[in-house]
Order: sequence, then C-alpha cells, then structure tokens
Amino acid sequence: MLQTMTQIHSAEDARRLAKRRLPWMVFDYIDGAAATGHGQALNHAALRDIRLQPRILVNVRERSIAKQVFDHDAALPFGIAPMGMCNLSAPGADLMLARLAAKHKIPHGVSTVASTSLEKIIEVAEGHAWFQLYFSGDGSGMGALIDRAEAAGYRTLVVTLDVPEVGRRPRELRRGFKMPFRIGPKQFVDFALHPRWSLSSLFHGKPGMANFGPDNPFDRTESRASADWSYLAKLRARWPGNLVIKGVLSVEDALRLKSEGVDAIQVSSHGSRQLDSAPPPILMLREIRRALGPEFPLFYDSGLRSGEDVVKAYAMGADFVFFGRLLQYAMAAEGRDGLAQMTQVLADEASLTLAQIGRRDMHDLPSTLATVQQPPLP
Ligand SMILES: Cc1cc2nc3c(=O)[nH]c(=O)nc-3n(C[C@H](O)[C@H](O)[C@H](O)COP(=O)(O)O)c2cc1C
Repeated sequence: MLQTMTQIHSAEDARRLAKRRLPWMVFDYIDGAAATGHGQALNHAALRDIRLQPRILVNVRERSIAKQVFDHDAALPFGIAPMGMCNLSAPGADLMLARLAAKHKIPHGVSTVASTSLEKIIEVAEGHAWFQLYFSGDGSGMGALIDRAEAAGYRTLVVTLDVPEVGRRPRELRRGFKMPFRIGPKQFVDFALHPRWSLSSLFHGKPGMANFGPDNPFDRTESRASADWSYLAKLRARWPGNLVIKGVLSVEDALRLKSEGVDAIQVSSHGSRQLDSAPPPILMLREIRRALGPEFPLFYDSGLRSGEDVVKAYAMGADFVFFGRLLQYAMAAEGRDGLAQMTQVLADEASLTLAQIGRRDMHDLPSTLATVQQPPLP
C-alpha cells in the first residue's frame, strides 16, 4: 500500500510549504506582524533564549501531556487561538480545527470574524469551543453575538482587548488585503500564480465572515477604541460562564482584571500583530504570574512554534497555551493531514521535552526549571 510521506517535522516545514502554496496576499495576511516586525523577532528571541534544566535518573517512562483547563481535561496541553478568516488558509479550515478540538478535547477559539458560523463550529467541535468577542463601535452590536453564543452552547467567552484599533501591518497593506475580501487586478495575478489554492478556494466559494450578514454587517476598520472598564463590568454582569480577557501585557491591568472578577487572563501580544514596541509577551507572562500568585488561571499565546516552547511557557507561568499561525501554516501546507502531522509533532516535542527535564506531567512545571537568558538583539 502506498503511504503518504510525512512532510511536516517542524513549524518551519509547515511555514515553508504554506509560503509556497498560498497566494502572497493570503500568506502575508497570516504571517505578517505589526510595523517592522521587530517586536515579533524579539519575542521569538526571548522564547529561544529561555533555557530548561535537564535532569537525569528520573523514571520518565510514563508521561502525560494531558492538562486540565478550567474544570475540563484536555488531552493536549495546547489549544487553538481564535483567528479570523481561517478558511483562507485552506477550504474548510475552521471545521478541520473544530474536528481537531473534538478529537483531543482541546479548546477551539472561535473568532468573531470566523469564516464559519459560531453555531456550526461548536457543533462540529462537540462543545470544545470558546467564543472570542471583539468590542466594536459603541458595543451595542455585541449583545446579539453574546446571546447567539450562549444559545449555541458556548460556556467560555474570550474577550480580546488588545485591538483598540487594528494594527498597521505593512505586508497586508501592500497586498491590498481587505475584509470582506475583494479581488482586484493585483489579486487576480497573485491567484493565477497559485492555481492549487485558487481552484480549490473557487470551488468551495470565497471565504467570508460567517457570523455577519446584510442585517448585521461587520466593519473591520470600525474603531474598537471606546471600550473601557465600565464595559468590562457590564460584560461580567452579563456573562455567567467563564470570562477570559485576551491581550494582556501589563501587570497593573492583570491585577485590576483579577479584582474585577474575570475567570482567566490570556497574556498575548496578538502574535505581535498590534504594537511593534510591546515587551516580549513571554517575559511579561512571568511578571504577571509573580504578581497574581500561583493559583490564578493564566493562559498564554504568541510566538510559540514547538512543543518545547509549550513547556517553556508553562514554566514561565502559563496554565494553558494556544497556537495561532502555526496551525494555519499546517492546513495551508497539507490540509487536514497537515494539521494532524503538525499536532503530532507538537505533542511528541512536548512529551520528549518532559523526558529530558525529568518531569512526567504538565501540571508539574515550576518556574525554577526555566532560566531567562538576556537575548542578544536579533
Ligand atoms: C491570521 C490571524 C488572524 C487572527 N484573528 C484573530 C481574531 O479574530 N481574534 C483574536 O482574538 N485574535 C486573532 N488573532 C491572534 C491569535 O488569536 C493569537 O493571539 C496569535 O496568532 C498567537 O500568536 P502566534 O500566531 O505567533 O501563535 C489572529 C492571528 C492571526 C495570525
């Protein structure tokens, strides 16, 4: 029997294949970062330069990378970060992610601007979905989305607050990327040069923002700048389930969020897509953990590219972590199969890292394991 060759052995493999297969406009939308990209490079360097202490003569034959998140047992120590318009990376990408979430019982962050409806995603994810909300305009349109999410069975609301305005990402701007998606002459040439993507995307229909329609249009460029602490208080009073605030990089904000009664904080720089000059989020994670104490639920995303990075983020203070771009690279590279390969790579890397450092379990990764080196400037 002919066996398919595994092509993805690392995040870099998936990215390289994605770059080859995607139109430039789509690749630059997914891969791009804010402004010069220096903030992203700094975070990658900071992650790279965290050192984990190896240990010997610990029996690590039996290891588990399962992890509890809220009151739920996830089979993997990482989930899926919310990402808008995922179906651009491959037709049906949202549902590939939803099936992955169902299979491993991991949380699937469903973006406000997902390309599949929030109702369909939670159904396919068999309940393993968290709804991500963007505040927009005066906030009045958000109530209807929250009602829909609740009716669909969502129990965790992730409110992303690091986008008071959409960051300037020159690679997107240069390609003329817009949501909703438009095809002008420039894009036409780009698509013609990437026929594999274009034919399958044309066949499946142009991805759109499925949670919106003519009756409730979405304007990506509409200011989200008027959200303030009183909005948070209203949200807290309105949402009975888990409330997660995503996009936190300040110790002061984290302390205030804790006192306002949120259930978890997600330390994140939005994958370095918002403020180029932000401090490396992986370093802020440790500061925030120190300030909040050992018990408060802290999640992390941004810049993770391996299972070893997952272990590092836990040692820096995370209770759970999320991958973003990496999963889209894998689907762009090889669709569902690429996603399965990438997931296996990440799981293997996390488990092998545990073995090397003499640990058996993701619940047992104290901060003493990780030394932060002063990274040389990239
Ligand atoms: C293409 C793309 C779209 C994104 N869309 C959203 C979104 O709609 N809502 C949100 O909260 N975060 C969004 N994010 C940010 C991710 O949730 C996450 O913070 C980031 O991707 C993590 O960094 P990483 O890509 O380096 O793993 C998006 C990221 C990417 C790459």
